[in-house]
Amino acid sequence: MVTGAGFPAEFSDLLSRAGRRLLDGDHPLAGALADPRRRFLQAGDLVDPRKAARLRVLLESEVGPTLEPIDRPIPPESIWEMTEDYAETLPKTTRAGTVYFDDAREPGARAAARIGLARMLRSDSFHRFAERLAGRPLAKKHGIQLLRYGPGDYAGPHNDHHPGEPKARHGYVDIHLSLASPTVEHQWLVHARAGHFSEIVSVAGPAIVTAYRLPFWHYTTPLAARPGRERQAVRWVLLGTFLFADAA
Ligand SMILES: [Fe+2]
Repeated sequence: MVTGAGFPAEFSDLLSRAGRRLLDGDHPLAGALADPRRRFLQAGDLVDPRKAARLRVLLESEVGPTLEPIDRPIPPESIWEMTEDYAETLPKTTRAGTVYFDDAREPGARAAARIGLARMLRSDSFHRFAERLAGRPLAKKHGIQLLRYGPGDYAGPHNDHHPGEPKARHGYVDIHLSLASPTVEHQWLVHARAGHFSEIVSVAGPAIVTAYRLPFWHYTTPLAARPGRERQAVRWVLLGTFLFADAA
């Protein structure tokens, strides 16, 4: 364990004043995802940007070298095996780096544990934060994930529906904290509303929280670096996946 310089034990220790107010239920976003018309929200002022910047640098040095690549390109047969005009279908395409927390012996999982990241993502206050945004009780145990987007990394259109999992098939909540370096020019999250990919928000800030009441269609555009800063441009995403407490 890295002492002093690592992640705090509780997610609440990363929060700004506005973030702590949300944790107390005293914020306009409290319960936002309980609104049936609202499936998504983004906020850039809930996490302390200075703490976020320090932790981004720590992730880069400690976890960066251990990442596993995710590389799911466009299948060529999605074009060449088409037999009908306009009948194209596209599975989820994506490119990023990740840590597989399921196997504690993996170098990435060991690095994430050493700096206290896994402990913070599993903390009670992260769970409570998710419940505040969800506006309903969430299952006690939740999943965690870590992604790193470098220049050109992206996630193609997908909906995160899991019909094969009884506890998730009627929906669930994802909470993401994005930590982007100042050398990122832009990266956008595009999502559907009323059947069209009509909504677009930036995920390229120093400490952006996004929350999703899944499933719904969305995609993440390729990360673009500021000119000449391709080597430093990065967005880390800390994720929690929460089932509803009353899920079957
Ligand atoms: Fe997604």
